[in-house]
Amino acid sequence: MDRSTVVSRISNLVTNDPAVGTGLLGIIEDAAVVIQGDRIVWVGPRSAAPDADSSFDAGGRAVLPGWVDSHSHLVFAGDRSAEFSARMAGEPYEAGGIITTVAATREASNAELSGLLARRVAEMVAGGTTCIETKTGYGLTTVDEVRSAVVAAAGGVDAVTFLGAHVNAPEFASDPDAYLDLVCGPMLEAIAPQVQFIDVFCEKGAFDEARSRRVLAAGIRKGLGLKVHGNQLGEGSGVRMAVDCGAVSVDHCTYLSSRDIDLLAGSSTVATLLPVCDLSTRQPPAPGRKLADAGATVAIASNCNPGSCYTPSMALAVALAVLQCGLTADEAVAAATLGGARALARNDVGVIAPGMRADLHVLDAPSHHYLAYRPGLPMTHAVWRAGLRSA
Ligand code: NIG
Repeated sequence: MDRSTVVSRISNLVTNDPAVGTGLLGIIEDAAVVIQGDRIVWVGPRSAAPDADSSFDAGGRAVLPGWVDSHSHLVFAGDRSAEFSARMAGEPYEAGGIITTVAATREASNAELSGLLARRVAEMVAGGTTCIETKTGYGLTTVDEVRSAVVAAAGGVDAVTFLGAHVNAPEFASDPDAYLDLVCGPMLEAIAPQVQFIDVFCEKGAFDEARSRRVLAAGIRKGLGLKVHGNQLGEGSGVRMAVDCGAVSVDHCTYLSSRDIDLLAGSSTVATLLPVCDLSTRQPPAPGRKLADAGATVAIASNCNPGSCYTPSMALAVALAVLQCGLTADEAVAAATLGGARALARNDVGVIAPGMRADLHVLDAPSHHYLAYRPGLPMTHAVWRAGLRSA
């Protein structure tokens, strides 16, 4: 029998279940949670908490579901700090820098990639992230894409996405359709057993709508969930195509027309916002308020990657979603937990309720409002990921 732990003296418990607590976040005040093995087994007011084998005193802090980071690019080698500095001096962000990381990643051994990934995953968990998606996309050969997926799956992430269609591989500069033949054919065939989703960067400088649709159609044939990088650097067809194809999420959503917003609101495709990326690439904030008002399902993710956003901080992403995108603190926290779970089509994370995975984030603050109220400070006091205390 697994040992149980009661986490008690919780000032505000964010359950994400409005049926058991107040408001959108289903908050229970002066609460307790009991976990056993990798599951939550009891949630409620502290006065009614059952006994457990051990206890943890949250000391009047808030407890949230661990962050569900549904968009990151963690399997890479190399350094693009010079590109970042040039951008801060006025250069625009363009997808071209991806090839710099592709060259460094191809050079790296599996052991090097695993070591780099392990450090990045540890940084994420230390900041309260307990469910992690990551993508391939810095290999762009069959061998390098497959080993990126294998390294990711073995490295403690929860979902792996195939992003062979990140940009055209340099070897195919004069024949991008031949590269797509490879991505949609032998590369997909080889990588499919290692991944849950397929993704495409639908943007000027990457893949146009027709080519992006080819990638998604190939993913459907292999039974993969669909994701799209869309509307990052300008308005385009990414959102429309994602909704039309039934993608589980369309990520970035920085430049949206009112039609895009209506389409998202009328669909089950999650609009995933990446606010730190927008800040780091000097794009305008994504229209989070308009999406929420229209009734779209919104997720917030880190987009940790070496080019457009080299931080895994979900606390910063939540703060910016409030301060710049116009979400309330409640909406931003819901988007970074339950919204992320929806963007990964998961129903075992993002909610604190009996039977859910024991992913708890004890904030070093009395409520989730402090994430945006005191941005930039360390906000994580303790973390359980699948029942294991990790920070
Ligand atoms: O989501 N937009 C495409 N891919 C990444 C950036 C990749 C890079 O610049 O290395 C993103 O922002």
